Amino acid sequence: MPTVNYVSFDGQSTQLELAEGMTIMQGAVMNGVEGIEGECSGSCACATCHCYVDDAWLAKLPEMSENEDEMLDDTASERKPNSRLSCQIKATAELDGIVIHMPEEQE
Ligand code: FES
Repeated sequence: MPTVNYVSFDGQSTQLELAEGMTIMQGAVMNGVEGIEGECSGSCACATCHCYVDDAWLAKLPEMSENEDEMLDDTASERKPNSRLSCQIKATAELDGIVIHMPEEQE
C-alpha cells in the first residue's frame, strides 16, 4: 500500500498507508488528519482539499484538469506553483512516499 506523508502547517507529520486508488483527500479525512477538509467529497467543486505537493513529487503527478486549475484560483490560502487539489491525486505505487504539505487555512 502506498505511503503518504502529510505535513501540517505547523510542521507536524503524519504518515499513512492508503489503499491503492484512494485519493490523498480521502486518506486525510477518513483518518482524521487535520488541514484537508474535502467539503464536496472529491467532486473538484470546493477547493477545501488544497495542498502543496513536495517539489520532488510534482513531475510524477497526473496532469491537472482545466476544472482543477480553475478551482485552484479560489483557494483560501495562497496558490503556489506546487498547489494541487488532493481529491484529484490517487495513491499509487508510483507515488509511494509522497509528501503533502497542508496550507494554513482551507476556508
Ligand atoms: S474535495 Fe472538494 S475540490 Fe477536492
